[in-house]
Amino acid sequence: MPISDYIDKLFNCSALDGIPGIPDASIDLIIADPPYGLGKDYGNDSDKKSRSDFLQWSISWLEIAIPKLKPSGSLYIFTTWRYSPEIFVYLKSRMVMINEIIWDRKVPSMGGSTRRFSSVHDTIGFFAVSKDYYFDLDAVRIPYDPQTKKARSRSIFVGKKWLEKGYNPKDVWSVSRLHRIHSEREDHPTQKPLEIVERMVKASCPPEGIVLDPFAGSGTTVAACLLHGRHYIAYEINPQYCAIIRQRIQRIQQDAPSAQQP
Ligand SMILES: C[S@@+](CC[C@H](N)C(=O)[O-])C[C@H]1O[C@@H](n2cnc3c(N)ncnc32)[C@H](O)[C@@H]1O
Repeated sequence: MPISDYIDKLFNCSALDGIPGIPDASIDLIIADPPYGLGKDYGNDSDKKSRSDFLQWSISWLEIAIPKLKPSGSLYIFTTWRYSPEIFVYLKSRMVMINEIIWDRKVPSMGGSTRRFSSVHDTIGFFAVSKDYYFDLDAVRIPYDPQTKKARSRSIFVGKKWLEKGYNPKDVWSVSRLHRIHSEREDHPTQKPLEIVERMVKASCPPEGIVLDPFAGSGTTVAACLLHGRHYIAYEINPQYCAIIRQRIQRIQQDAPSAQQP
């Protein structure tokens, strides 16, 4: 099928069955937030694999997905420190590693682990097909507050782009996880904050480009695409989560009529 038959569509099927039909070299960005291999309940057994089955499965969907990227394309993969070493070693054999991003979930200090340090982060791998990958830093610069800007008053700093327009986000992203009562929260156990996915979309997909999300969950990538004028192709195996995504799309389009597909 031509790429036009896929764009701005949510498919209720396994990504491993659906992605092979997408034309090769047609996708600008893959944002993949797969099951982490930690036994979560997604209403199916997708996260109940043994360690070796999980790693084999991770490589099998990556093998299917990577050829769909354009030469300027890139991939973000959410994972955990428990599996990132193996997954990153594999990805480094297929792509160029750009960053390891730490998502600090800003988990409040409570009891925590007693036999090791409490784990409060997710690991995100940022990989590109080639060194000529698309990256729009200006779209994600973080402006300085007036006080800090004023403090950087030495003449060597005056007129510097980083001072005027903002600085490059660092590779530790401190964004609170979504609490049960958070206004963004959908009925999904591992929904990611929109702020994180928006940054990926704006930095790594050109306007009107195409983002593939193989494991859409509650539709955070779809929402980011709608809000920022990018096309999406999304797969989600659980029909109940697909219903959540459809409602989310409807709400965004009602609340912000300008948030239409490009
Ligand atoms: C970590 S969650 C994604 C959460 C999402 N990023 C969000 O912000 O809501 C992983 C999702 O992948 C789905 N899933 C598992 N195996 C799948 C497969 N083979 N194809 C498509 N979706 C799958 C699960 O049902 C689950 O909703």
